[in-house]
Amino acid sequence: MGLREQMTEGYREQVSRNRLRFKTIARTYADGQGRRLDGELLAELIRPVRFEFVLDVATGTGAAAAVAAKVGAGAKIIGVDSSAEMLVQARAAGVLPVVGIVEELPFADGAFDLVLCTRALHHVRHPAVAVAELARVVRPGGHLVVADNVTGLSGAAHERVETIQRLRDPGHSSTLTEDRIVELLQINSLDVLECRRTTSYRPLAQWLADGGAGAQESAEVRRHVAALEPSDDEGVFGTNFVTEAGEVAGLRQAMSWIKAQKRNGL
Ligand SMILES: C[S@@+](CC[C@H](N)C(=O)[O-])C[C@H]1O[C@@H](n2cnc3c(N)ncnc32)[C@H](O)[C@@H]1O
Repeated sequence: MGLREQMTEGYREQVSRNRLRFKTIARTYADGQGRRLDGELLAELIRPVRFEFVLDVATGTGAAAAVAAKVGAGAKIIGVDSSAEMLVQARAAGVLPVVGIVEELPFADGAFDLVLCTRALHHVRHPAVAVAELARVVRPGGHLVVADNVTGLSGAAHERVETIQRLRDPGHSSTLTEDRIVELLQINSLDVLECRRTTSYRPLAQWLADGGAGAQESAEVRRHVAALEPSDDEGVFGTNFVTEAGEVAGLRQAMSWIKAQKRNGL
């Protein structure tokens, strides 16, 4: 069975959950989470690359697309996202907005010199299909930068944190490991050129507000967080809760930034 045939109807429900969530937080996103994208790092990764046609997948309010616009003067930049409300602000950033979903990109094979996808893979139901789509639209010799939150946890400890992530934001699907993202790139004819890691800390209240969690959801999340037990995996690079004076104070988010190049002649 091919990848696409393995997609369950569940992915459309996942897209709907995200549409609803991002409709709610679209107005505040650009000045909050949007601004916190590490633009300097993204610029460093794409500066050595020659590009004219750029696609920013799940562009949101266009945070990554805006970096590409700055680095590559004159580049034509399309931003695709499932949320029309998020795209309103991407348009203001000079991005050509297209409503669409990662799993079914409405573009020809090899149409772009550079494809970006930041902070979005954890929202999709079938990351393997999503990465295959990202790879498909990169031209041979072209580049892809994927950046996302990663987990260093496994087994039950991983599942407990994932449950909390979904309670806080029903649009959350799954946090991948860095190794899994690398593997997905490689099986889609992409050679990994560089992998960078960043961490950022947010107090629990801010993290809850950024995700659009209401009072009831926040209380539920806090209950689950308080019940978390330390895990053996905590030394591994990955997103984790931070405890201060015996209480969970916030979340340290771990992001992997992976730059890859599509093999030539494929
Ligand atoms: C956390 S935001 C990241 C936005 C932007 N890339 C950034 O780094 O600021 C996630 C974005 O993914 C979009 N999204 C979620 N699932 C999607 C899907 N299946 N297809 C397209 N966009 C999707 C959401 O609408 C949202 O704009």
